[in-house]
Amino acid sequence: MSSVADDPELFGLIERELERQNTTLQLIASENFTSRAVMAATGSVLTNKYSEGYPGKRYYGGNQVVDDVEDLARRRVCELFGAEHANVQPHSGSNANLAVYLATLDAGDTVLGLRLDQGGHLTHGSPVNISGRYYDFVSYGVTDSDERIDVDELRRLAEQHRPKLIVAGATAYPRVIDPAPIREVADAVGARFLFDAAHVAGLIAGGVHPNPTGVADVVTFTTHKTLRGPRGGCILSGGELAAAIDKAVFPGLQGGPLDHVVAGKAVAFHEALQPEFKAYAAQIVRNARALAAALAGHGLRIVSGGTDTHLLLVDLRRFDADLTGKKAQESLDRAGITCNKNTIPGDPRSPFVTSGLRLGTPAVTTTGMREAEMEQIAELIARVLRRPDDAGELAAVRDLVASLCSKFTPYP
Ligand SMILES: Cc1ncc(COP(=O)(O)O)c(C=O)c1O
Repeated sequence: MSSVADDPELFGLIERELERQNTTLQLIASENFTSRAVMAATGSVLTNKYSEGYPGKRYYGGNQVVDDVEDLARRRVCELFGAEHANVQPHSGSNANLAVYLATLDAGDTVLGLRLDQGGHLTHGSPVNISGRYYDFVSYGVTDSDERIDVDELRRLAEQHRPKLIVAGATAYPRVIDPAPIREVADAVGARFLFDAAHVAGLIAGGVHPNPTGVADVVTFTTHKTLRGPRGGCILSGGELAAAIDKAVFPGLQGGPLDHVVAGKAVAFHEALQPEFKAYAAQIVRNARALAAALAGHGLRIVSGGTDTHLLLVDLRRFDADLTGKKAQESLDRAGITCNKNTIPGDPRSPFVTSGLRLGTPAVTTTGMREAEMEQIAELIARVLRRPDDAGELAAVRDLVASLCSKFTPYP
């Protein structure tokens, strides 16, 4: 069998990526740095096993250990979120959402979801996604006044369209989403309620975002964002939907589970059950607030006036009418600051260009950065945005970024 040394081409690329992650700032809101224990589990011999089915009911032999691994993951995640039932097999957050649709809807059914250009996810009804092609999604949005979810509009649309399912949750929304009023609307129109907690799962686990488990009928999430586990998805539900959801994941959507990733999820759930994780989640939010306030101090408008979560949306229009999100992202990248362009509510530009940036603090918080470093980062971002075409300025900022990162290296 070959070793790492036999494939310098590929392992050289991984070394380059390690160097990039260690020496530049990672501000993508959906990314994080997993522990070495999570990576050890996902790089383990469990990758060799086939185990279609569920613990105690598999299609192949040899699953005694894998059954225990999956049971452990399920037990830990149920304890973490207070759930009755968990399915830890979805390969991704998108698969988790699709499994819920498969379990609860027929093709053509009406579903309510957050408008995509106001923070919703592709799987919440985008016409280019299977969700938008197979189901009839109707979108609610945020208000013009405070740029927060418009629950009155959601109620009005629910009464008008009588959806079978209401989806809450977002990919680019900086405020807490309270599940309670959405539950009321769902009950009033006889709809089921899916809370997609992909972004905020770690904040929920850490006690700084309301827990939708038991309020919504189903909760889906990714394990790799604020929750800091391996890439993957998970579904929590009450007992009533458990069998339908398990059947939708396998054999409905997927074949064999990725047992090495299930093991990595079990490690992440264990880490999130420790008291330190609460402190981590609280610091993520404090850092996001500090970053938002410092950027506002440099003249940037923050969508909704701030954040309650791990992410913030920056509106570039008033800072510089000609500066697009695309251009800002490219210049920041050249300066060693990794983030993504994002549409903002009412954005006149396309999703490929945009007028906004999305910034998140989960990864930098994992490295130990706190409010003081957020002020430094805001200063560096503002320098780039003021002179996005000035190669000398971008190089100078890149040096300062490297110097800051040398004190907060994720994988020394
Ligand atoms: C709200 C939301 N749901 C689902 C997903 C899908 O996750 P994945 O990329 O693992 O398919 C994302 C990913 O960004 C998300 O933000």
